[in-house]
Amino acid sequence: MTTTAPARTTATASARPSALRGAPSFEGVLAAAEAISSTLPATPAWEYPLLNEAVDSRVVVKHENVQPIGAFKVRGGVALMSALTPQERRAGLITVSTGNHAQSLAFAARAAGVDATIVMPVSAPRVKADAVRALGATVVIEGADMSAAAAHAMTLAGRDGLHFVNPGNETAIIHGHGTVYLELLREHPEIETLYVPIGSGSGAAGAILVRDAIAPHVRIVGVQAEGAPAVHRSWSSGRVTTAPIDTFASGLATGSGFEVTLPILREGLADFMLVGDDLLREAMRVMAASAHTLCEGAGVAGLAGAMADASRTGVVGFACTGGNASGEEIRELTARIGQ
Ligand SMILES: Cc1ncc(COP(=O)(O)O)c(C=O)c1O
Repeated sequence: MTTTAPARTTATASARPSALRGAPSFEGVLAAAEAISSTLPATPAWEYPLLNEAVDSRVVVKHENVQPIGAFKVRGGVALMSALTPQERRAGLITVSTGNHAQSLAFAARAAGVDATIVMPVSAPRVKADAVRALGATVVIEGADMSAAAAHAMTLAGRDGLHFVNPGNETAIIHGHGTVYLELLREHPEIETLYVPIGSGSGAAGAILVRDAIAPHVRIVGVQAEGAPAVHRSWSSGRVTTAPIDTFASGLATGSGFEVTLPILREGLADFMLVGDDLLREAMRVMAASAHTLCEGAGVAGLAGAMADASRTGVVGFACTGGNASGEEIRELTARIGQ
């Protein structure tokens, strides 16, 4: 896997920034697909006989782990960068992340020649902080969890005049993430149920925009970690709600719901499941053993949802959204793999 940012490009200048940053829409996803196309080629989607056996269904896996940062989030960063105003570019960006959104913005900012500062909570895996630094962004480790880190990022944004990028509420990012499912549902219209991991809900919201426009027969099921249920609680109550965080899956470790994604999830999810860390670890094992793929915990949430869903029917689709497993995740995985 390479983490080399592409040469600076002006190809994205032809994208339609207004569609990208307006209200979430399918047109925004199409604009994002155009904006990222010169930087990020479409990722493969494969089926694996052993995985089909393990899940007892046909399963199509979309491989976002092969993205240059090892996760689907790079789509959102590249889409966002193409839609920034000249003032925002000059000011520089600041955001908050446990890792993959951080790498995404660092990668995209470097390619666009924009300064990026990333605030990461102390719980963020070191391998991800190292990757962000290597991509040229400034890393600030601060806060016990995402909420504390976000508060710090907003303070720095005010103090230093930086443009704060909210990872869950920025429509250009939602549109960028929707391109995963644009590719998947165009290539595999036979998919009947799509299981989508939820941290902030940006990927799931993008999936819903795409489904509504091109594949209305597809059921979308959100999957979040039992140990970090803020978006699930927000979805159930209809109000943005906070919740404690206790999961090893850093990509799912969000402590609050998000205003922009919440109504889309409320309207568009057929179901919303919570899965335990043990099932996420088991899904990591299944992906390694049956699909030759190293996924991080958040990256297998879709599969874990499919495995746990007693009402599952028909062809299943999910994206391995990330492969950036921490040292601890890899140690746990190898202990489970056996012979
Ligand atoms: C690998 C991975 N999968 C899933 C998610 C959750 O995505 P979202 O925040 O769009 O809900 C994240 C978030 O960082 C992630 O890194």
